[in-house]
Amino acid sequence: MVHVVRIDVCAADELPPGARRIVEADGRSIGVFNVDGDLFALRNICPHQGAALCLGTVRGTMIPSDPYEYVYGHEGRVLRCPWHGWEFDLETGEKLFDVSERARVKTYPASVEAGRVGVDV
Ligand code: FES
Repeated sequence: MVHVVRIDVCAADELPPGARRIVEADGRSIGVFNVDGDLFALRNICPHQGAALCLGTVRGTMIPSDPYEYVYGHEGRVLRCPWHGWEFDLETGEKLFDVSERARVKTYPASVEAGRVGVDV
């Protein structure tokens, strides 16, 4: 049986769209992001060399396109590691695009209950 613990992050109005919070709880550091009202929570450790990933920038990225075409997309849905620039999908934790070295960040369900943001770990 899987034991789920809810970590209290903050009041919902303390995490408006565009904001992030990093919480230390239960031996973990977790970043919680509000992107246009959607909440995402990720482990705050980069699978590359262990940087505090959730201190990175939230942005978009270049998406696959035809040769000589440069298409920018996924605005606000990509987390870029502050050390070497690996990019991760905020929703899935998957490393983007370079499939030669697969990596994934642990993600957690985040939600608002009774006016409080929480993460289930
Ligand atoms: S530690 Fe994150 S990309 Fe290197």
